[in-house]
Amino acid sequence: MTATPSRTSAPDVPLDPRSKQALADRGLEYRIVPIDGDELDGYRNAVGRGFLGERSTPEVAQGWRDSLGGSRLVGVHDPQGAEPGVPVGTVNAWVMDVTVDADSFLPMWSISAVTVSSTHRRRGIARALLEGELRAAHEAGVPIAGLTVSEATIYGRYGFGVAAHTASWNIDARRAGWIGPRPDGRLDHIEREALQRDLDTLNAATRGSRPGDIEGWSRLWVELAGLTPGKPDPKVRAVRYTDAQGEMRGVLAYTVSENEADFTRSTLHVVAALADGTDAYAALWRYVLEHDLIGTVTTSLRALDEPLRWMIADQRALTVTERDHHWLRILDVARCLQARRYRVPGSVTFSVSDALGMAEGTWRLEVDAAGSGVVEKVDGAGSAGADDQVSLGISELSSLLLGGVTASTLLAAGRIEASPGTARWLDLAFAPVSAPVLSYWY
Ligand SMILES: CC(C)(COP(=O)(O)OP(=O)(O)OC[C@H]1O[C@@H](n2cnc3c(N)ncnc32)[C@H](O)[C@@H]1OP(=O)(O)O)[C@@H](O)C(=O)NCCC(=O)NCCS
Repeated sequence: MTATPSRTSAPDVPLDPRSKQALADRGLEYRIVPIDGDELDGYRNAVGRGFLGERSTPEVAQGWRDSLGGSRLVGVHDPQGAEPGVPVGTVNAWVMDVTVDADSFLPMWSISAVTVSSTHRRRGIARALLEGELRAAHEAGVPIAGLTVSEATIYGRYGFGVAAHTASWNIDARRAGWIGPRPDGRLDHIEREALQRDLDTLNAATRGSRPGDIEGWSRLWVELAGLTPGKPDPKVRAVRYTDAQGEMRGVLAYTVSENEADFTRSTLHVVAALADGTDAYAALWRYVLEHDLIGTVTTSLRALDEPLRWMIADQRALTVTERDHHWLRILDVARCLQARRYRVPGSVTFSVSDALGMAEGTWRLEVDAAGSGVVEKVDGAGSAGADDQVSLGISELSSLLLGGVTASTLLAAGRIEASPGTARWLDLAFAPVSAPVLSYWY
């Protein structure tokens, strides 16, 4: 399966009337903020303040404005406030592909910029905003929603589940000792403009093998390359790997912080490392671990199953910290489950609870010998008490979708109800092509 040819245009999706009414009942206005109007400055101000940021310069604000094509910005305004042009609640969404299995993608309602002014907290504004996004996306036919979070306790209540954990690495470079491959290709320093292009090219070439990863957007490559308008980062350096046949296969973006107490033990931080193939991967990580004057290598947003651990002589040189990162929320059960393939044939009946109603019901998944799944809604007769029944919330089903957690683990954690045999079948059937990951924030 490839990307959907005609994709929902987020800016054309109307506001959810229920959230509009809920906020109006509290004297608040819920509206779409036009990208090309004056209101955008107030919206940007609110988002910056919400994420504890500083005021932006006109150049930064213009760069941000230029990056918003395809986004749907929603603001909650308090007409009684001292700054009625600055919203007291914000959310931003657009549609981009998320990888669900090898070269299988789903269009995802990608939610960002969720803020509520600290003067208006805990009055249900975030709830109205989140529920409004999910209902609007569902109405528009978008099958799944996703976000990355600053706090892990906020979004489960809306049906989001952790679909991908990621790892931060801290590597004692002196201790690690490279024992991995030494590929034949070459490494070259490149400038940030070339880095920006290579990141885009390599993400497109490789994301199909990384469940949970995303299509990205043009501004993301600009930022990772340290080229944010009005806020360039001169510390960003880049190296490209070209294979023996002359093909660009990998790119590394990094910064270095000097250790003034011991210049031979400076820190190299990997901002992004994208590799198309194992040679490129080995070449890039060998480069950072054997870099002169570097004592420590740090990075984050790495997959949990990366081969690097097995490419160094002393695994205790590597300290790994895991964290939840990509949260997904299934809106259309049949479409999401049919988008991926399964590793063993069989069937299961999901009895799904969903406080927002859109995924509520009983769904039967039949997997054929080739691994294709067909999903049918089977509410009512015949579904209750089936031997292969699994009862679970939409948050848990969303966590299972990419195979980032097994059903047996969720069963043992008391998060789903199923027989051990059914959970075991799910473990095998939902096994991922590789550990789900999300290599970016959005
Ligand atoms: C997090 C934030 C958006 C919540 O906004 P809010 O309008 O105060 O939230 P609501 O009043 O709608 O509360 C909705 C629910 O979330 C819960 N909640 C709100 N903030 C929470 C938090 N920080 N941690 C855990 N739960 C939280 C509430 O208790 C409430 O639960 P309930 O409806 O089940 O009773 C707001 O505090 C904020 O803008 N924080 C700074 C920016 C940020 O962290 N954004 C999130 C980015 S991922």
